[in-house]
Amino acid sequence: MQVSVVNGALDSVKTDVLVAPVFEDGFDADPFLSDLDARLDGALTAALSSADVSSKLHRASSVLSLGKLPVRRVLLVGAGKQAEWDAKRARTTAGTAIRHLKSSGQAAATLYVPPAGDLVASAAAAVHGAVLADFSVAQYKTRGEDETEFQHLQLLVAGAPQDLTTVTQKSRVIGDAANLARSLANEPGNKLTPTIFAQRAQEVADAHGLGCEILDEAELERRGYGAILGTSRGSDEPARMVTLRYRAEDESAPTLGLVGKGITFDSGGISIKPAERMHLMKTDMSGAAAVLGAMQAIAQLRPSVNVVAVLCLAENLPGPTAMKPGDILTAGNGETIEIINTDAEGRLVLADGLVHAKSEGATHLVDVATLTGACVVALGTTNTGVFGSSQPWTDALLEAARHTGEAMWQMPVGAEYRERMNSDIADIANAGGREGGACTAAAFLQDFAGDSPWIHLDIAGTARNDRDLPYVSKGPTGVAVATLTQLAQTVGERGVPVEQ
Ligand code: BES
Ligand code: MN
Ligand code: ZN
Repeated sequence: MQVSVVNGALDSVKTDVLVAPVFEDGFDADPFLSDLDARLDGALTAALSSADVSSKLHRASSVLSLGKLPVRRVLLVGAGKQAEWDAKRARTTAGTAIRHLKSSGQAAATLYVPPAGDLVASAAAAVHGAVLADFSVAQYKTRGEDETEFQHLQLLVAGAPQDLTTVTQKSRVIGDAANLARSLANEPGNKLTPTIFAQRAQEVADAHGLGCEILDEAELERRGYGAILGTSRGSDEPARMVTLRYRAEDESAPTLGLVGKGITFDSGGISIKPAERMHLMKTDMSGAAAVLGAMQAIAQLRPSVNVVAVLCLAENLPGPTAMKPGDILTAGNGETIEIINTDAEGRLVLADGLVHAKSEGATHLVDVATLTGACVVALGTTNTGVFGSSQPWTDALLEAARHTGEAMWQMPVGAEYRERMNSDIADIANAGGREGGACTAAAFLQDFAGDSPWIHLDIAGTARNDRDLPYVSKGPTGVAVATLTQLAQTVGERGVPVEQ
């Protein structure tokens, strides 16, 4: 999607469709909308009072301009109360408009962004929402549902306090990166194996000038990465560990380490999962997809920070050589792990991924994983669980999340959770019982992060959206792409936070 911005009056645009938000409580405060209403002989006012053409939130309806305007039709999108207008509303309103336009084959439009609230933030969010709305999960449908790709979005603003080109292009880059993560997460296990995922990562790296190294099983063996190898042993598909590298112009900048869980299918292994909803475990690589998406965005936005990303790719199946409960694995740092439950495989691949990121020079770590059902029970599907060993580092991430509109909530870590992971015969066990399952999983990972400031994002609940919404389709969400990218930018601008 191409994005451009016009700062001016309605007559300065030439467009087929103009999208305008309508507020339930009128639009007197907005001269652009009142002028539009007047020129349409009160059509907006009529829309507010009519039952079918409603101003209800996220309802869209068209008004033909019949030659009264330089545009052919106006798409009104219900935007709620005017006082509630903010970046989030701008995002969902724009998304609603794009989904509506796409369903009628329209591939270009001009979107008016009202100056209420923070116009810069609203414009950025509107572009983000529009790009996310231009995504389809129907890539394997061979009949019908011919969705046109949206080609050109023009933002129309009045009295912008600054040039909006940079912020809107940044939103487009981040939205495209989230859509890359979503399309990967939408791929089934037979179409996206660890080997194919690694190739996709190589393609992204080649297209955007990132370094890329793919470790195969022989290389993983040589490095002693027994935790990821143990996880993939039950599958004929070999594991891969991919290292992507982005270098800042200033080589002395700190090095951010992003580590993603990339289980291309999680059957649970010998501790097999129930059949119901098991097919959704094709999305168990959403963490690795988010990290790859963030790297694509970082390569385009070029922040002043070095980034090393590690994708931990494996398939968890109960084949004849699969790891068994009771087995002992040795991770890359020499730590021994007793397998209590083969379905707790994400923490195994991440253990080696965290060790590898550190050996590749990462000083500040963030891992992203669809790690535990317990996190879904604790936080539901709206908030990502955030665990951190350093409060200043965690605060930096939470601020980046707020900035991008991704809901994240901090969860506890500590020695009590780590004790639950004690093993009678090895250094650590891979499962610690039902209680506090998201926190004990985080405690496991913290062992492998060691002394480095580390954050763990549990996206088990937020990586997928179960409902088709007016502004975003059902399916993978691309969560964490925006926050990770923003975090890299913040660190690039301000450096890493000082540890207390
Ligand atoms: N991939 C799952 C976690 C998951 C559950 C993601 C639901 C998305 C939605 C993970 O590998 C897993 O199976 N975790 C176990 C851990 C347990 C065995 C300690 C779980 O949460 O039940
Ligand atoms: Mn599992
Ligand atoms: Zn899993």
